[in-house]
Parts: sequence; structure tokens; C-alpha cells
Amino acid sequence: MRILHVAAEVFPLVKTGGLADVVGALPQALIKQGADVRLLLPGLPAIADAVLSSKKVCDIGAAFGAARVSLRQAELPYSHVPVYVIDAPYLYRRGGSPYQASDGTEWADNLQRFALLGWVAAHLAAGELDPVWTPEIVHAHDWHASLACAYMAAHPPTMASSVFTVHNLAFQGIFPQADFHLLGLPTRFMAPQALEFHSQLSFMKAGLKFSDRITTVSPTYAAEIATPEFGCGLEGVIRGRGGDVSGILNGVDSKIWNPEKDPGLAGGYSSDELDGKALCKQALQKEMGLDVRADAPLFGVVSRLTSQKGLDLVLTALPAILKRGGQLVLQGNGEPALEEAFEAAALQFPRQIAVRIAYDEALAHRVIAGADALLVPSRFEPCGLTQLYALRYGTLPLVRRVGGLADTVVDASEAALLEDRATGFVFEAATAIALEAALERAIKLYQNPVRWKQMMLRAMAQEFSWDVAAKTYLDLYQKLAVAV
Ligand code: ADP
Ligand code: GLC
Repeated sequence: MRILHVAAEVFPLVKTGGLADVVGALPQALIKQGADVRLLLPGLPAIADAVLSSKKVCDIGAAFGAARVSLRQAELPYSHVPVYVIDAPYLYRRGGSPYQASDGTEWADNLQRFALLGWVAAHLAAGELDPVWTPEIVHAHDWHASLACAYMAAHPPTMASSVFTVHNLAFQGIFPQADFHLLGLPTRFMAPQALEFHSQLSFMKAGLKFSDRITTVSPTYAAEIATPEFGCGLEGVIRGRGGDVSGILNGVDSKIWNPEKDPGLAGGYSSDELDGKALCKQALQKEMGLDVRADAPLFGVVSRLTSQKGLDLVLTALPAILKRGGQLVLQGNGEPALEEAFEAAALQFPRQIAVRIAYDEALAHRVIAGADALLVPSRFEPCGLTQLYALRYGTLPLVRRVGGLADTVVDASEAALLEDRATGFVFEAATAIALEAALERAIKLYQNPVRWKQMMLRAMAQEFSWDVAAKTYLDLYQKLAVAV
């Protein structure tokens, strides 16, 4: 089966969050199952540079404000996954992030930049760009790729079906209605039953309305986005799709996240031989300037610092960690107010709190390996990957019961402990009080090394494999292909 994955980021070339990890790993897992998978990516600097020796598939000419656009084909370094790259330097070759300039403002021409991505996907599906390869399934990820579904619907000759995956409903790609004409779509697409959203134009709606199937990255989030609390105003649209919406849990790429073979750690370890984990903790405490104490429960955070992640709750709950001799290492970047507040706390308690305002892949591995527990107190969490990495590394996740966190962590309740099912700590309300209570439970349990170790082993034995997810996606693709 021929499948085209369309996305704006891919690990390790361009990454702003978990989307890149998924786009890096899922195609490989599908290929392992025998599928014929290709990726379509925008020619952002790191992507274009990585495929310099690519071959030109075709000239597209002038499109979406760029005078020269062409389509190139290569293999991704590292994974050898075949990739089409849209070469449009005018739209893509710039610094900053894929979505924003270095000063944090959205690129003014994001509509054109991501419409082009969807347009190329649809024209590949119609067999107009590459005479030798036409996908049967176009799988678009998040709003950046969602216009593929609208262009496919507007461009009837395609035999391909479309799947749209929502990684985060909060980012929707909203633009002024007045810019609709730039998309080159028929006017019927600017209607409430199409792309119109409160008198604006929504890329997210293109995916939700025109894809053949919608998936999101955990079963619980799939149910949540049909409710006003999590639906970001789109719950009605999602409910309207009924049984076309499902949740498929993300996996862990064990080539990248494996404590036994992780090259950046002070000591490798596995469930048979845990000594390396103690070395990782000691090394992290030293690196961060914390008191080097094996008996101090060390909490880690690796996260974007945004309100989604609920880290303001951690700020309020800090005394619960400090007064019981705990430690915190936080690595992240994002909202300036959160960055400053955590830095101030670290200045005040340098032997117990360490903060690194940085995006650093290698450090993320050292924090997740070195901590005893990882805090993920999110207000909403479509799947969450750091808690999965933490489980793999025997670092017990302390999470809020929401989205993918609810689906992947089993709370250390008395019953779960007795039945040896517990893998972490789960709290309900998005309040500092609820978080504090969970922190207190975790610190108390940490004082019982036998029970803690039992939970570590249980956590490390959890399987969140991309093979399982890939099989579920293949099943879905096959059903769609039969329906065509
Ligand atoms: P989200 O995509 O919402 O940010 P996920 O948990 O799905 O959340 O994925 C986050 C990914 O980004 C993980 O791979 C995590 O390790 C990584 N990450 C987050 N913050 C940082 C950081 N400051 N430095 C390095 N990696 C980070
Ligand atoms: C989004 C979500 C996160 C999810 C990731 C990958 O960034 O916020 O929960 O794990 O996408 O699907």
C-alpha cells in the first residue's frame, strides 16, 4: 500500500515538539510492516540542506507568491525513509522556527507556506507531479498539512483517500477570511460547512471536514475533543464526524529512547541491571549544581513552557517538594513569565532547584534518565511523549489524568500497588493542591525503596511500541482503500 505522510517537522532535522518524533518514527514502523511510505516536507533550511543530493522530480513554477517552486526527492539521512521536499526558498528558507520568526511572531505568509504543502500533496495524489509514484493514502498531520484534504476534495480525479491526524487541536491555523482567494479553492469552500470558522478561515477545519478519516493521538483525547472543555470551539464539527474519529496511541522510538544503549548517559541500564540509573542521577545532580544525594527524590521536567503543560501548578507546589528535601530539574523554554519564575526559584534554592531554559535534545535524555520521577501536570495532553520516555527509563511519571496521560500511566493507588499494576502517580483536578497531594504521595512512596523499585520495573516493562500503532494505522488505511 502506498502512503504519503505530509507534515511540517521531522526528527531530528526540524522539531518543535512531539509531532516531529511521530513523523520521524511512524513512517519507519509502517515500512517495517511492508508498506510503501513516502514523506512530503517543506524545504525548511535543515530539511533542504539534509537532502542536498536530491533529484528533481518536477518544476512546479510560480505558486503561492514564490516565483520558483520545484519538487525534489531523496532519502532522509538516519532513517532512509523516502522523502519529497518542496524546494521554495522564498517561502521556506529562513531562520526562526517553522512557524514563527525569532521574535516569536507568526510568519506573515504562513497561509501561503502551508497551503503550498497541502497543494503539493493533493497534486501528488492526483498523479500530476510524479509519474512513477502516486499514493493511495494521503496522511496529513496537524493544521500545517490539513489543506491537503481540501485540495483533494476540490480536485476530483484523485483515487487516494485522506487521513487527518490531530496532534493538537489548540493550534488551528486561523487566517483572515479576506485571504481565502490566495488558496485558489472554489468559493464553496469558504462556508461554515467548510473552512469558515467564526468569520475567519481555519486550516484545521479543512482537515476535520474533508478528510476521509480523522485520528488523534490517544483514545481519551479522541473522546475529549468532542466536548466543549477540550474541543476549542470545534467540538460540534468533531461530533458531526461520528465514527470517523478514533484515537491511536503514539509509540516510543526505541532506537532513540533506550536506557541500555543511550550514548549520552553516565551509565546505561536496564530492568536487569539498574546500577546505571543511580550514576545518571548522580551525574545530573553534579551537572546541575544540586546537592549530590542519592536519597533526595529528584523530580524532572522536560517541556515546552506553555499553559497547556500546567507548569504554573508546579511553581505553586514547589514548597511541597522543598520541605520534604526533594529536588527539581526543569528543562524547557517558552512563555517568558514561566521562564523567569522558574529561574528565580532556582536562584533562591540553588541546591534543590535547577533550571535550564534551553532546547537541547541530549540534555532531555540526561534529565529523563537522571530523575526519579517526571512531572507532566498538563491541562490537556493529546498524547504526551515524555511520560512514555520516562516509563521506558524507569522514571516514574507524575501526571494529570487527561488525554494520553490518562491512557498511559497507572496511578499508585493501594489496589494498583497490591496488584503490581502501578506505573506512576496520577492526579485529577488542574490545581496546585491536587498536584501537591500527588507529590506528597510520590515522596512518601520514594521512602520505601522496595515498592519504588517494584514500580520502576513495572514502568520499564510497559510496551508503547510503534509496531502496534503502525498495525492499527495500516488497518485503517486498508479499510479506506477498500471503500474507494
Ligand atoms: P508536545 O509535543 O506537546 O511538546 P510531547 O510530550 O508529545 O509534547 O513531545 C515533546 C517532545 O519535545 C519530546 O520529545 C521532548 O523530549 C521534547 N522536548 C520538549 N522540551 C524540550 C527541550 N527544552 N529540550 C529538548 N527536548 C524537548
Ligand atoms: C502534540 C501534543 C502532544 C503529542 C504530540 C505528538 O504536540 O501536544 O501531546 O504527544 O503532538 O502526537
